[in-house]
This record gives sequence, C-alpha cells and structure tokens, in this order.
Amino acid sequence: RKGRTPEEVVRRYLQKVRNPPEEDCTICMEALAGPSGYKGPGMGGISRAESVGRLSQCGHQYHLQCLVAMYNNGNKDGSLQCPTCKTIYGVKTGNQPPGKMEYHVIPHSLPGHPDCKTIRIIYNIPPGIQGPEHPNPGKPFTARGFPRHCYLPDSDKGRLVLKLLLVAWDRRLIFSVGTSSTTGETDTVIWNEVHHKTEFGSNLTGHGYPDSGHLDNVLEELRAQGITEEDCLRD
Ligand code: APR
Ligand code: ZN
Repeated sequence: RKGRTPEEVVRRYLQKVRNPPEEDCTICMEALAGPSGYKGPGMGGISRAESVGRLSQCGHQYHLQCLVAMYNNGNKDGSLQCPTCKTIYGVKTGNQPPGKMEYHVIPHSLPGHPDCKTIRIIYNIPPGIQGPEHPNPGKPFTARGFPRHCYLPDSDKGRLVLKLLLVAWDRRLIFSVGTSSTTGETDTVIWNEVHHKTEFGSNLTGHGYPDSGHLDNVLEELRAQGITEEDCLRD
C-alpha cells in the first residue's frame, strides 16, 4: 500500500462512470459532467472519460480529482471514507500519538451494572512533537489529564467493547491532536470520536454511570471508525 500514489489508492475503490448524471459533485459543488473544482498540480493527465468515479460499495459519485484532493488532505493511510455516507474503503487509521493502553478488572460494580465487576482502562500519552500527520508538524503538543482512567462493565458486551477499543488503539483512533473543546487549548491530545466513561461511582460530568445506552453508543461510534466485531475475529 505504501508505494501507491494517491490516485492509485483512490482508483482501487472506484468503478467507471461512462455517463455522469446531471448532478453536482458534493466535494467541489461543480457539475459531475464538467471539470473538478480542484485542479491541483500533477492532475493534468486525467482525461474526461475517467474524470468521474462511483465508489464501489455505496455507489456515491464524485470527480476523481476531488477524491484525490480529499485523500491528500487526510493522513494518506491507504483508506478512503465516503464524505456523503461515511462508508470506509480499506482500513481507516488516525493520528493518535505514541503512548500506552492498559486495562484490568476491579472488584466493584458500576452504577447500573450491579451484577458484574468493572474493567478499568488506563491510557497514558506523554507530550511530544507533532508529526507530519498532525495539524502543526514540528510544533510541540501538550497532553493533559493523563493517565486517563475509563470504565466499562465486565459483562459480555463490555468485554466486546474492550476488544474493539484495543483494535481502535492499534489503529490510532482513540485520541487525536487538536483543540480541546473543553479547555480551548490548541495543539493538545484530545479524545477522538469514541466516547469513554471517565467517572466511576458518580456522574458529575455526564461522562459517568448509569447510562444504559453507553455500550451500544460506543459500538456505533466504533462502527463509524470502521471497527466491528469481525475485526476482533480477524486480528
Ligand atoms: N470524560 C470523557 N469524555 C470527555 C470528557 C471527560 N471528562 N470531557 C469531554 N469528553 C468528550 C467530549 O464529550 C467530546 O466528545 O471528549 C470529546 C472531545 O472533547 P474535548 O474536550 O475536545 O476532549 P479532551 O480535551 O480530550 O477532554 C477533556 O476529558 O478525560 C478528560 O482529562 C480529560 O479534562 C480532560 C477532558
Ligand atoms: Zn457514499
């Protein structure tokens, strides 16, 4: 995958469209039948016949050049996500900085889960220097509130969520570097799009128990990152 050009990566997930529909490309807002709004360098060679593609699973259509521009804006990991319906092509990865994820069972029950013990996850990420995949490469990033402790019920569904979170960690999808919506601090380690419960016996922040929908919500958020039960059977 590493040796592929962005255009080769994008083309792997596309089918040819001979007659583009009378619709706009929702990336550049220009007609699919006309040229892409993105005319980046090195794109001169794309002929009209190949200028629109249909994503193979979801069927959404875009200018090829628009998808290439979108891919180049991301972390170029060989995966592509449909901007309309979020279908993921390939394996999505994130830009979580290096660190450690550990977990163990503690012999206490969470509010709302009286019949089982509790899994405690401990994330630790030290501050560092941003890489090319981060918003300000070469600039330092801070890391506040680490180690961060999170809790799951030690039930069948809680253990499934843990397994999927371990996959998410390996794919660098649990944290990101950016601006904290809580503190407003820029260039800092922040939670990515998968919610965690950081309170054990109380719910003062809204990130505690009881919350009967939490595990299903997390499974849905993991699915949006391309992580499902099949991933732990495979990995
Ligand atoms: N616990 C769990 N999740 C949280 C918390 C929290 N205390 N605060 C915010 N979130 C969720 C938000 O609901 C949002 O979905 O994290 C997501 C990103 O929010 P940011 O405020 O940008 O994230 P971050 O700065 O990483 O978190 C703020 O969370 O765990 C604590 O110590 C951490 O004080 C920090 C706080
Ligand atoms: Zn789509």
